Amino acid sequence: MYIKTIRLQNYRNYKQCNITLGSKLNVFVGNNAQGKTNLLESIFFASIGKSPRTNKEKDVLLWGEKQANIDIEVIKKFNKTKITMFVLKNDKKTIKINNIPIRKIGDLMGELVVVYFSPDEIKLVKEAPNDRRRFMDIDISQIDKNYFYLLLRYEKILNQRNKLLKETQNYEILKRTISIWDEQLSKIASKIIMKRLNFINKLNEYASSVHKQITFNKENISLSYQGIYCESEEQTEQKILTELSNNLEKDFNLKYTTIGPHRDDIKITINDIDIRNFGSQGQQRLTTLTIKLAELRLFKEEIGESPILLLDDVLSELDENRQKQFLLQIKDIQTILTCTNFPYPLENQDKRFLIKNGSIIV
Ligand SMILES: Nc1ncnc2c1ncn2[C@@H]1O[C@H](COP(=O)(O)OP(=O)(O)O)[C@@H](O)[C@H]1O
Ligand SMILES: [Mg+2]
Repeated sequence: MYIKTIRLQNYRNYKQCNITLGSKLNVFVGNNAQGKTNLLESIFFASIGKSPRTNKEKDVLLWGEKQANIDIEVIKKFNKTKITMFVLKNDKKTIKINNIPIRKIGDLMGELVVVYFSPDEIKLVKEAPNDRRRFMDIDISQIDKNYFYLLLRYEKILNQRNKLLKETQNYEILKRTISIWDEQLSKIASKIIMKRLNFINKLNEYASSVHKQITFNKENISLSYQGIYCESEEQTEQKILTELSNNLEKDFNLKYTTIGPHRDDIKITINDIDIRNFGSQGQQRLTTLTIKLAELRLFKEEIGESPILLLDDVLSELDENRQKQFLLQIKDIQTILTCTNFPYPLENQDKRFLIKNGSIIV
């Protein structure tokens, strides 16, 4: 798939912006603080209905304005999609697909599939588990709407279980009342975990081959799911139910649920060494690149067409050889790349833009 047009109104530092993209490489050159990241943020926002930068949606409104608007036209293998999004001052938003308002945010998933890569994404490899869970959750949601709805239901039940843990003073009473939540929670948890296992297994395969390529066979990468699970969904459900009850006393004391998919993680090793704790900065960067390239391949396989690659200022982090090799690898998919300078010649279908203080010229 590829984006044909982007229209922004009162979005961050864009008062009004109207651009037509090429179907391959699109390079946006600009100095610092001109609106490069803002542009990519708007595309990501239209893709999953959330900003990668902020949870406060009204942050994206041009200062002093009451509403922001993103309008993106996507060309796919078999059809076209127009995504229209309005963000209002009270953090509310409305989304239309082909001019029809959607009722649930899940309906947006899969309409515009992107892989987002900025220097900040190294957090995937380096930081606490919640960044990796967020990564998994966003990616699986983009290829599987049901997964997104499972997450919402899980969160709801988890909140209710935690509320009960907080409000119940007597352990014996808690033991009797919590089982209805545990049964529901373990049922949904096992479905979520099965989908995550499937995702991580596939991602691991793609990552292995990509990483061998970019390290010239020197490094072996491995991604594995860290959590409570068994072979089958039924066994996993049973296991989680048992673990919930084994940990009840602990949960009672801490007043929140300590096991389940909301606590799980992905373990990443290079040559059997845990990259999070023992990898060098360079290795961590390269691993992030591998994961992004693996994501591209996985999405392509799962949705039957290429996703769109958003690259925010990451080229400058690679040496010249790796830059060239990287550009070669992504030459067939629509890429929206920002940088402060781009020293390479463009192909016929490629386009170069200049970003200056919230306006864009070809
Ligand atoms: N809600 C907003 N309204 C107006 N300007 C904003 C808003 N949010 C951020 N900005 C401004 O946008 C500018 C460009 O940001 P950014 O896209 O991150 O720059 P860069 O080109 O370095 O990636 C910054 O100067 C920032 O002050
Ligand atoms: Mg930036």
